Amino acid sequence: MEINKRRIRIFDTTLRDGEQAPGASLYPEEKIRIARQLASMGVDTIEPGFPISSPGDFHAVQQISRELQQIEICGFGRAVKEDIDAAVKATQDAGMRRIHMFLSSSDIHLDFQLRKSRQQVVEMARSMVAYAKQFVDRIEFSPMDATRTGDEFLFEVLEAVIEEGATILNIPDTVGYALPEEYGNMFRRVRAGVRGGDRVEYSAHCHNDLGLAVANSLAAISAGVTHVEVTVNGVGERAGNCSLEELVMAIETRKQTMGVETGIVTSEVFNTSKMVSRIMGFPIAYNKPIVGRNAFQHEAGIHQDGLLKNRSTYEIMDPEKLGIPRSMIILGKHSGRHALKHRVGQFGVQMTSEELDTLYTRFKEKADAQKIVTDDQLMELVGAAVEGHVEAFTLTQLQVASSGGKERSHSAKVAIRNNQTGEEHMYAAVGEGPVEAIVQSLRQAMPMAVEFSDLELHSLSTGEKATGEAEVTLVIGGESFKNTGMDQDILMSVAKAFVAACNQAVRMQNKAPSEATSA
Ligand code: KIV
Ligand code: ZN
Repeated sequence: MEINKRRIRIFDTTLRDGEQAPGASLYPEEKIRIARQLASMGVDTIEPGFPISSPGDFHAVQQISRELQQIEICGFGRAVKEDIDAAVKATQDAGMRRIHMFLSSSDIHLDFQLRKSRQQVVEMARSMVAYAKQFVDRIEFSPMDATRTGDEFLFEVLEAVIEEGATILNIPDTVGYALPEEYGNMFRRVRAGVRGGDRVEYSAHCHNDLGLAVANSLAAISAGVTHVEVTVNGVGERAGNCSLEELVMAIETRKQTMGVETGIVTSEVFNTSKMVSRIMGFPIAYNKPIVGRNAFQHEAGIHQDGLLKNRSTYEIMDPEKLGIPRSMIILGKHSGRHALKHRVGQFGVQMTSEELDTLYTRFKEKADAQKIVTDDQLMELVGAAVEGHVEAFTLTQLQVASSGGKERSHSAKVAIRNNQTGEEHMYAAVGEGPVEAIVQSLRQAMPMAVEFSDLELHSLSTGEKATGEAEVTLVIGGESFKNTGMDQDILMSVAKAFVAACNQAVRMQNKAPSEATSA
């Protein structure tokens, strides 16, 4: 029998606390785009900025409040009148709203930063909550640096703000100092020990200085908290905040054990992560849980073998449910024959056992010499091992030139052999940068319409001789194709990846519909 689960409300502060990460600052239009995506992903509350901090932030909060009527918008500020006025005004047109104010409570902050006595802090908290309460009913109060504040003073501040009408107590681990058990127990003690503590809602807000933000937030949930403050990709001050995708997927994957659920549309998680990473200019670590490039990829032979038999042997989540294009098998020196055969089969190539032996030997030599073997390289090896197998297009030449300074001063020339017709032609184009010039010339070379949708560049090793890796995503016939190219010349890797993705599209087209599964 399905038991009702407690609903955890996801409070997204990517656009406020996340934006406080050094180098992450966003333009108002960027905030609006991200907020729309957060709404599509189903977050419950958005904290879109710090309205008093700049006219741009005020405008972003105001626009988001006006546009996203179905989501609670949080107006943020210090416990001072000007901040509260700005937060109230910026969120005036929201369909639902709360005001979130913070004031430090630890002695370290009081003595060195605020230079105020405990009594002054209690007075400030009390009067500012009462002030905000005239305008908005839902008031969230955060005693900053709560986890380094002793119970006695923490309780005193919290009792005061409850008396004045605070409805949500957010107890932040501002400096990421708490351990999970401590953090959970703090909420238990507050609820039981603070006068009025049983008639307010609780919220967790964790920083990741010790890598414990998600664990601490889960501990708070176990202690009864119903709101969790998170950021996409865990961006935020220093080591960041509790990561939305990690917390949501921990809950989703272990919901039977935890007895809780969120309203997040998990199929939007990956898109949101990518969007935030791109707009903020913050790359995602390869091994980042859930959204990192390696999170659902497997190179070890034993794991690949298990996965090909049954996905759940080595995966606890289904990447497709997170909107992550499936490409689980990475071919490298640890890969086995089973994976190689499977991959080649996905390319529509059937091999005899002898051909597979030859391919396997050559593949291992190649894999030993470099970290991974790309599809493009694999197909070259297949061409040498299997009589008559060729890819649709081969890039035979690339030249790039820059005439410096002027507009559209980069030019590219590519030579492409169409292996079906045997013809080889040159195509040329110009662009503002070399990548644009290459892409335009390659688009001319292809017989089908190709939309260039995404490019990621990485260095695979260190030093001057490093190999560059390009990952290109193209949209062809309404479908996405992602492929990789590697070369010491990074522009060549872009061109190789482009052609490999086109070849992938042609392969898919040529396959019978029943066989066509994405690589
Ligand atoms: O980390 C923190 O303490 C905060 C508060 C202002 C909620 O971000
Ligand atoms: Zn914070």
